[in-house]
Amino acid sequence: MDKLVIRGGNPLLGTVRISGAKNAALPCMAAALLTEEEVILENIPQVRDIETTRRLLSAMGAEVELGYGRAHHRTTIQARTLNAPQASYELVKTMRASTLVLGPLVARCGRAHVSLPGGCAIGARPIDLHIKGLERLGAKIATEHGYVEATATRLKGAEIVFDKITVTGTEDLVMAATLADGETVMQNCACEPEVADLADLLNKMGAKIEGAGTSIIRVKGVARLHGAKHRIIPDRIEAATFIIAGALTGGDINVTGCEPAHLTSLLQKLQEVGVKTTHASESIRVMGDTPHKAADVNTEEYPGFPTDMQAQYMALATQADGTSIVTENIFENRFMHALELVRMGANIKIEGRRAIVRGKTPLSAAAVLASDLRASASLVLAALVADGETIIDRVYHIDRGYEHIEEKLKGVGAEIRRIGEIFPKRRGANG
Ligand code: UD1
Repeated sequence: MDKLVIRGGNPLLGTVRISGAKNAALPCMAAALLTEEEVILENIPQVRDIETTRRLLSAMGAEVELGYGRAHHRTTIQARTLNAPQASYELVKTMRASTLVLGPLVARCGRAHVSLPGGCAIGARPIDLHIKGLERLGAKIATEHGYVEATATRLKGAEIVFDKITVTGTEDLVMAATLADGETVMQNCACEPEVADLADLLNKMGAKIEGAGTSIIRVKGVARLHGAKHRIIPDRIEAATFIIAGALTGGDINVTGCEPAHLTSLLQKLQEVGVKTTHASESIRVMGDTPHKAADVNTEEYPGFPTDMQAQYMALATQADGTSIVTENIFENRFMHALELVRMGANIKIEGRRAIVRGKTPLSAAAVLASDLRASASLVLAALVADGETIIDRVYHIDRGYEHIEEKLKGVGAEIRRIGEIFPKRRGANG
C-alpha cells in the first residue's frame, strides 16, 4: 500500500495547475449512459474515481476509452447497448458516487439494479432522496438483498421538492428527468457548480434544462439525447487545497487553470484569517507571508463554505493565532482527521458537530493514517509545516480525488515522496 513521506518546513513557491473537477466528471460520465451516441469529455482528471467509473460503465456494456499520451485528460464514452444496467456492491462500496447511474439507467433502459451504498467513514450517507425522487417520476422501487431495483416503462415529469439539499441526488434526478415524458420541476436543489456543469453537458446532448446552479431546476423531457463534446470545469476543491497549502507554508504560489468565482466563500474566509490573495480570470495568487488569525467556519451547501474544505481549513486553523470553531453541518462524522492532527501536536477538541481548534501549536512529524479523501489532504497540509518527516498511510484515499498530488507539490518546492506501489497503474486495460 502506498505511503507519502513529507518533510515539512519549505514555503511553497511557484505555479501549480489545477485539474478538472472529479465531482463534475463523475456525473458527466454517468450522463453518457443516456445516449447511444459518443460523448467526449475533456479535462478529465487522472484520479482513481475516474478509473472506478470506467469499470462501472464498462461492466454495463458501454465502451469507455480513457485517453493517454497527449490526450490523457480526454475520455470517450459510447453506450450503444447496455446489456447489464447495474452497479455492483464491489464498485459502489469503493465509490459512493456510483449511485449516480441509477437515474440514467432507469431513464434509458427502464430498469436499474444498483447496490445501496451503506455507511462510510464520514457518516450514514443514505440515498433515500434519490429513491423518493425517482418514485415521484413514476419508477417502481424495490430494495432487496442490499440492492435497489428500479423499473419504469417511461418516467413521467413531476414536481419534486427535496427534503434536504443533496448534490448527487439533484444530479441523479436531473439526468432521469431529461428523458421523462413532460416537465419536471425540482425545488431545493443543490446549487453547486458541478450540477450546472452536468446540465451544460446534458443541454449539449439535446436536453432542455433551465435553472441548474440555482435552487429551482426545470427539465422538459425529450424523446432522445445525442452525443456531445464537453470540457469539465476546474476542480475548486483541489484549487482550494493548494491555496491553503500556499497560505499555511507562508509561501507565494499562483494557482492556475481554476475558476475564482467558485471559490468566493473560501477566499472571503482567508481574508478574515489575514491571508493575502489576488485573482485574475483563471488564476489565484496566494501570499502566505503574513500573520494568520483564527476565524470560525461553518460548512454549508454552495455557495457556503464547502464541507470538502473543512479538513484542510482545520490544518490552517492549527497554525493561526487564537481559537477557531469549525462546525460541520453537512456530515455527522467528518472529524477523523482531527484525531490525527492531534497526534501531530494540534490542540483540537471535538464537541459533537463542533471542533474547537486552539491555534499556533507547533506540529511535529508522526506516522498518520488517512481515513477519507479530504482528511488525507489535511494531513498532507499539516505535514508541510510539521517538524520532521511525516508518513501518511492509506494514500489510496487521496489518489481517489487528487491528480498526482506529490508531483504538483514537488513542483512548488515541497519535499514529498511516495513509497510503496507505484500509482497510477497502466490505464486502458479492462477490469
Ligand atoms: C457530494 C460530493 C461530496 C461532498 C458532498 C457535500 C460528489 C461525487 N460528491 O456528495 O464530495 O462532500 O456532495 O457537498 O459530488 N442525504 C440524505 N439522503 C440522500 C442524499 C443525501 O440524507 O438521499 C444527506 C447526506 O447524508 C448528507 C447531506 O444529505 O448529510 C448532503 O449529502 P449529498 O449532497 O447528497 O452528498 P453527496 O452527493 O453524496
